[in-house]
Amino acid sequence: MKFFVDTAEIDQIKELNDLGMVDGVTTNPSLIAKSGRDILEVTKEICDMVSGPVSAEVVALDAETMLAEGRKLAKIADNIAVKVPLTWAGLQTCKTLSDEGTMVNVTLCFSANQALLAAKAGATFISPFIGRLDDLNMDGLELIEDIRTIYDNYGFETNILAASIRSANHMSECAKIGADVATAPPAVIKAMANHVLTDKGLAAFMADAEKAGIKIM
Ligand code: G3P
Repeated sequence: MKFFVDTAEIDQIKELNDLGMVDGVTTNPSLIAKSGRDILEVTKEICDMVSGPVSAEVVALDAETMLAEGRKLAKIADNIAVKVPLTWAGLQTCKTLSDEGTMVNVTLCFSANQALLAAKAGATFISPFIGRLDDLNMDGLELIEDIRTIYDNYGFETNILAASIRSANHMSECAKIGADVATAPPAVIKAMANHVLTDKGLAAFMADAEKAGIKIM
């Protein structure tokens, strides 16, 4: 499973990228607003740092303006994936941009039917939002499973990009299901390293090392 990092914070992307943990980056208008940066400038900086796909989202609602915005975003770098919402206008934009050879990430997906439409429209990525379904007492991971089944049934090449990931557990569950990509905030990716038994075991090793006066340097 590929790891995308879901942020527009340059320092945080760099730290994970230097460790080889970043196969791509996803942003959205909320993350760009949080960064306080200009969308074109910060997206260019991210694209220069990361070799994988970098999602940048349109802000128009009608297909014509969305397409113009998408074409402008696509000019930033070769690794841009234009992000469009899963609306009818978004699907129209997806089809045109995909036909032009631009990667498209269709976002705000909450149902298997929506994912089926995005694949038919030629999306490179479909972004089902796990956490926001869980927030409503629905099963976000079940949606990932359903989309995996449907895409495999018919050989759709659209990549399942699990999004709205809130916990380390979501990451391993997505990997078990076979999501192609999971995008997560840096803190969630870092939390994957944590285990209470690692902390406990390390404390015991350190205590024994101290008692025995073990020194390496
Ligand atoms: O990738 C989509 C993500 O940014 C949404 O996450 O936690 O706001 O639902 P969240």
